[in-house]
Amino acid sequence: MSNYHIKHLEEYFQVYRKSTNKPESFWDEIATEHFLWRKKWDKVLSWDFTKPEVKWFEGAKLNITENCIDRHLATRGDKTAILFEPNDPKEGAQHITYKDLYHRVNKLCNVLKSKGIGKGDRVCIYLPMIPELAISILACARIGAIHSVVFAGFSATALATRINDSECKMVITSDGSYRGAKTIDLKSIVDEALEDCSCVKSVLVTKRIQTEIKMKEGRDEWLEVLLEEASDQFVATVMDAEDPLFILYTSGSTGMPKGMVHTTAGYMVYSAYTFKNVFQYKEHDIYWCTADIGWITGHSYIVYGPLANGATTVMFEGVPSYPDYGRFWEIVEKHKITQFYTAPTAIRALAKEGVEHVEKHDLSSLKILGTVGEPINEEAWHWYDDNIGKKKSPIVDTWWQTETGGIMITPIPFSTPTKPTYATLPFIGIQPVLMDENGKEIEGNQADGRLCIKFPWPSIARTIWGNHKRYKDTYFSAFENMYFTGDGALRDEVGYYRITGRVDDVIIVSGHNLGTAPIEDAVNEHPAVSESAIVGFPHDVKGNALYGYVTLKETGEGRNHDNLRKEINQIITEQIGPIAKLNKIQFTEGLPKTRSGKIMRRILRKIASKDTSNLGDTSTLLNPECVQGIMDKAL
Ligand code: WT7
Repeated sequence: MSNYHIKHLEEYFQVYRKSTNKPESFWDEIATEHFLWRKKWDKVLSWDFTKPEVKWFEGAKLNITENCIDRHLATRGDKTAILFEPNDPKEGAQHITYKDLYHRVNKLCNVLKSKGIGKGDRVCIYLPMIPELAISILACARIGAIHSVVFAGFSATALATRINDSECKMVITSDGSYRGAKTIDLKSIVDEALEDCSCVKSVLVTKRIQTEIKMKEGRDEWLEVLLEEASDQFVATVMDAEDPLFILYTSGSTGMPKGMVHTTAGYMVYSAYTFKNVFQYKEHDIYWCTADIGWITGHSYIVYGPLANGATTVMFEGVPSYPDYGRFWEIVEKHKITQFYTAPTAIRALAKEGVEHVEKHDLSSLKILGTVGEPINEEAWHWYDDNIGKKKSPIVDTWWQTETGGIMITPIPFSTPTKPTYATLPFIGIQPVLMDENGKEIEGNQADGRLCIKFPWPSIARTIWGNHKRYKDTYFSAFENMYFTGDGALRDEVGYYRITGRVDDVIIVSGHNLGTAPIEDAVNEHPAVSESAIVGFPHDVKGNALYGYVTLKETGEGRNHDNLRKEINQIITEQIGPIAKLNKIQFTEGLPKTRSGKIMRRILRKIASKDTSNLGDTSTLLNPECVQGIMDKAL
């Protein structure tokens, strides 16, 4: 039996028991046998959730790119590492072999070095889904710089906040990006952001859409020009196991995004091991995850996990609706995709367009389907199972987070019997628990509570960049000695988990994690707005959509509410990005508040969801009279 590749349910239980009974020796064995180390560790694990502090493979030396690239050269040099499918199908796919990738990453390493980037420096990557994005990530990792990828749909303000928070010295971007029939001027967004970022000394610009753009003398340079001159040889920097590998920002319940810090060895081991098992990856498979690399899903399951296993990983630049709603299935047919990993929101959006787009294509290459990002509803699950998997491809509903680095609760395909809407069982090494509101662990099956993890796993984020206290407060303070996920979950009679959703002020819209506070801050910047409260409500495609309750400084006539709505959404677009726009905006005279001045969102959530039969206890409200008024005018 190989602990690295689990093939039966019996094996899963056996390996799971081993991983929880003797975590140190279990992970020691996985790490020893399946990765390349410059020096082995002195200690597998040390941890203390009260500080909190977690260290895996302390004392080990390695470079993750030697595991993702170099070690495959002898056996898989000519194998496609990255299969790039462009926005416009007419442009044709690109096959980047492991050998090509090696040379291209090395060249970029030399460019970074010539620009003064070294170990520990932060580099912001603001790129569309083109090969340069993966190559930039790998080049940073190879040189020892910490990459901070910012999703290229974020606005200039959001980009500037992230660049400044981690004091990036460099930005790697492109002239622009394609998105379906549209193009976006990425470089001008960067220019605007950098007006507020004095830490950035250089900007490397890759050509994608070939438009005229402004280049700032002494700061901006064309990447292609620099690459041409650069050597394709570069010796990877030796890193410590616990050296930061990357920072990735995620929304929180206050205005500032949280820069989650992932370190090298544990992240590598866990992302690779989960990839192998959750997708049952075999040598000739063609694996496709549709996420953007700007999110953790892309980091772990487009770049690091697949490449550490020597896999072929597809990078898709476009959108599911261009040139038509059959694009995903056209790509599956064209590249004979074997594993397909996407988000429930994409499934729902495509299901709405009808099966005729699916039926035009041969999907017989598919073996395994995956979903991630939000709870998948039963209808979407069945549509996916019936029409895409033809009832023969297991669906892995994978629950995890930016903070967890890798998949935490998931079926093992062909082993774990699936159950619609259930993420099923903890992955190897993961010890989930459900807690009640009094901080007590709920034992036994058929339970419902707050989802926590009671033991560290190798890819847990180690801190929030520059703010360890916030890390502790957010994840380790709600329950003693536990990592608190922010999600609610239930456990059925056999021990399967179903994630019921966030229990904090984070709302997941189309699979994007949005904090309400930063959006409220943006709304409040409108000169006419006095106060606002944002809640989620169920939406048939997006999963959740945003409902804003807004009080105005002057209520009277004379203000056109439709214009105000447009202006508010415009500010949100500028400050955060279009993903955070409000679906509904209700202007109201007051917001329900507790005596301590806290807005009672529970009530607003019920009104937005049209679930007002029982509003619960409103006795602590300072102004209960406003509730009826809000209900009467609900949208
Ligand atoms: C939150 C984390 C991890 C990659 C994408 C999102 C929700 C994620 C599932 C799932 C139900 C899910 C949770 C979680 N979530 N996967 N399979 N079923 N909910 O990463 O942006 O950090 O968001 O996404 O609420 O806490 P993220």
